[in-house]
Amino acid sequence: MNSDTLEGRAVLLGITGGIAAYKSASLCRLFVKAGAHVQVVMSRAACEFITPLTLQTLSGREVHVDMFGRSVKGVEHIDLADDAELFVVAPATADYLARAATGRASDLISAVTLAFTKQVLAAPAMNTNMWNNPATRRNLDTLAASHGWNFVQPGSGELACGWSGQGRMAEPEEILEAASALFSADLRGRAVLVTAGPTVEDIDPVRFLSNRSSGKMGYAVAAAAARRGAEVILVSGPTALPCPAGVRRVDVRSALEMQRAVDENIAEVDAVVMCAAVADYRPAKVAPHKLKKQRGEDERIIELVRNPDILAGLGARFADAPSRPVLAGFALETKDLERAAQKKLAAKGADIIVANLAADGFAKDDNAALILGRDGARRDTGRVSKRQLAEVILDEIKSRFPANP
Ligand SMILES: Cc1cc2nc3c(=O)[nH]c(=O)nc-3n(C[C@H](O)[C@H](O)[C@H](O)COP(=O)(O)O)c2cc1C
Repeated sequence: MNSDTLEGRAVLLGITGGIAAYKSASLCRLFVKAGAHVQVVMSRAACEFITPLTLQTLSGREVHVDMFGRSVKGVEHIDLADDAELFVVAPATADYLARAATGRASDLISAVTLAFTKQVLAAPAMNTNMWNNPATRRNLDTLAASHGWNFVQPGSGELACGWSGQGRMAEPEEILEAASALFSADLRGRAVLVTAGPTVEDIDPVRFLSNRSSGKMGYAVAAAAARRGAEVILVSGPTALPCPAGVRRVDVRSALEMQRAVDENIAEVDAVVMCAAVADYRPAKVAPHKLKKQRGEDERIIELVRNPDILAGLGARFADAPSRPVLAGFALETKDLERAAQKKLAAKGADIIVANLAADGFAKDDNAALILGRDGARRDTGRVSKRQLAEVILDEIKSRFPANP
């Protein structure tokens, strides 16, 4: 992790009222150690969990809590918002997220949030049922899609409330790393094309063949590349995910549409990251009307034809090209990971293959990957969040760029 990027940066650290607030002291300490100037703002509820004095001592600055407190000078909520380059809210409670998503300014931290115009990074933490509640999901979607917020996703496990599941705040080191990545625009001047999600191959107007890809990995790569300053084109099959901030999304449905979208944009890009789960086959014919079952018909055979292999096509096309985009592909396997990844690396003409087991990563928020390079590189990531894996993949790609953009 490169925390040099935080040196001299003005970070506003918001703390709201969840049990994870005790971890905010470590986070504050990590920011200070990385050279950031940290100003802390706390909700009233947060003060039930950790004292402002602790944060004041660690940050070396007066902590702000109340809109109308005795120590308030001038229009504090506007000054706090104006003075910072990055607003990190950790933990972010369900209630705070609801206030932020609906534009409330009913307390100091909410008013600061509403007045803040730069990057926001939030680390939600709550009981797993609160996290899964449709109201919270909606608020998170709104903040990501309409407000361009960045999130460090909560982890899964035993929660302080006794429940087990997703909701535990990310560790301070992970939050620091995400903050650092927001400042490092090391991909500025580069263009990255990412494919994500499943493809959908129509059988008739109401039926299709598809797969269980959620698109989370590709969206994480696209979001990370945009945060690091790249121009990002995200060619996405149908998913339920909001388009990450700063990303241009091209929606496609079938493998053929995905291939067309890749072809249309390939000339402009420095790297391609193929995360999409592209169907190997499609129905030979798409019926114009809904297929009806026939009397006496116990079996229906749908004839399938091969779809193009988009990555292998690019590998072949750029095999002898003097300049070529860095090509990264994914290998999703159910067994023999390393052998399958080596085979794929050779067969596709890719620079990097990111191999993972379906049981480890499919539709989850974290993953464990083996990254193999044509240059002989081998990197085992261990279990990491998809966000962290996205950063590692981009680091690998960056190290393969020619010296100057
Ligand atoms: C012991 C305890 C632990 C709590 N932990 C959380 C939590 O982890 N996440 C959360 O969203 N709310 C939690 N709450 C509820 C919030 O404190 C409450 O919704 C409060 O209104 C949040 O205010 P704030 O968003 O202004 O900080 C907890 C409450 C108590 C009493």
